[in-house]
Amino acid sequence: MKINSSQNLLLGLILIASVVTAQSLHPHDDEIKIIDGEQYVQTPFGLMLRECVHNVPSGTHIQESEDGSIFLTNDEKNFAKRVQKSEKCQKADPTKKPEQWIDNNGWDLPANKSLSKFEAYYYVPNTPRTTHDQWLYYFIGSQNNDGSGPQLSIIQPVLSYYKGWYFQSWNCCPDGQAINSPSIFNITPHDQVYGSVQVNKTSVNILSQNKFGEQSSLTIDRNGRNFTWIDATLEIYDISNCTDYPKGRMTFSQMNVTLNNEMSAIPQWKDYTGPSECNGKMVVEDPQTISIFHNLLQE
Ligand SMILES: *[C@@H]1O[C@H](CO)[C@@H](O)[C@H](O)[C@H]1NC(C)=O
Ligand SMILES: *[C@@H]1O[C@H](CO)[C@@H](O)[C@H](O)[C@H]1NC(C)=O
Ligand SMILES: *[C@@H]1O[C@H](CO)[C@@H](O)[C@H](O)[C@H]1NC(C)=O
Ligand SMILES: *[C@@H]1O[C@H](CO)[C@@H](O)[C@H](O)[C@H]1NC(C)=O
Ligand SMILES: *[C@@H]1O[C@H](CO)[C@@H](O)[C@H](O)[C@H]1NC(C)=O
Repeated sequence: MKINSSQNLLLGLILIASVVTAQSLHPHDDEIKIIDGEQYVQTPFGLMLRECVHNVPSGTHIQESEDGSIFLTNDEKNFAKRVQKSEKCQKADPTKKPEQWIDNNGWDLPANKSLSKFEAYYYVPNTPRTTHDQWLYYFIGSQNNDGSGPQLSIIQPVLSYYKGWYFQSWNCCPDGQAINSPSIFNITPHDQVYGSVQVNKTSVNILSQNKFGEQSSLTIDRNGRNFTWIDATLEIYDISNCTDYPKGRMTFSQMNVTLNNEMSAIPQWKDYTGPSECNGKMVVEDPQTISIFHNLLQE
């Protein structure tokens, strides 16, 4: 078939559009939901008002000021944004969505200790057999569950599946705002990708890295927070069939925990969720290795 130039142009545009869609750095923006006239997007903290979710370049520094506004700055990427305090975002309180954490193990650090570093390799599971717009979020993370600092902060490198695999650093929710770094792609089943959260006197760093060393990170002012709880979790949204889960295992391995006294710690994991749907289970293979299974027949 002979293609004339306008058809050619059209093909070109379609191609560009589909490339952009597949490589969207912030895939939650690919599916905006309108509820009561407001735009919402899916995040690891539930469905959030789009205006409370901030897409920032890798390496961006998050600073909270006392008046409730947030500064997002990244000198290297020539990026700066001031997010004004927003009653609307504060009201949403998106940190309370534990029922979506379908598989969750956690550990309270020893008394009077806080986290210095938590790192893991994530074994990327099989791609789900069916895609019904489901969202899967696999992460290690930490929270200041002791009430230290201005408010609860969740820090997570999140291996995500939404029509494809990608890896992003997320922080929620200073003043009700969620901040995410660009997605890292080039992730395929059975890869080992690397995630870490690291806390020093002044800052918190969240790093997501694929097997090729491509990274996406966020840095956050520590603001007096002591990170006292760590977890390993699968969180899900919009699953409509068991085949929307990967078949077989996902594994967090070689997990290392370092406390603020620079001593390494052996976590005593607690399973908060037990067996889950579609033959779901979490297995603590040893203190440094946790696997999440779905869709395997019960032995
Ligand atoms: C923790 O610190 C408090 C205050 O300094 C002290 O009273 C308590 O004994 C400490 N607990 C442990 C287990 O060290
Ligand atoms: C955990 O520490 C061990 C020993 O230092 C190291 O070999 C391993 O790579 C570390 N795990 C991660 C995820 O980096
Ligand atoms: C945070 O931890 C440090 C060191 O353990 C301690 O001195 C401080 O009191 C803690 N802060 C809060 C708010 O608990
Ligand atoms: C703490 O970490 C931040 C970012 O990860 C780094 O820029 C800073 O130099 C570190 N501060 C100290 C005291 O090590
Ligand atoms: C779920 O998936 C199975 C296997 O692909 C299929 O047979 C079944 O019809 C699906 N059910 C629904 C409700 O989509």
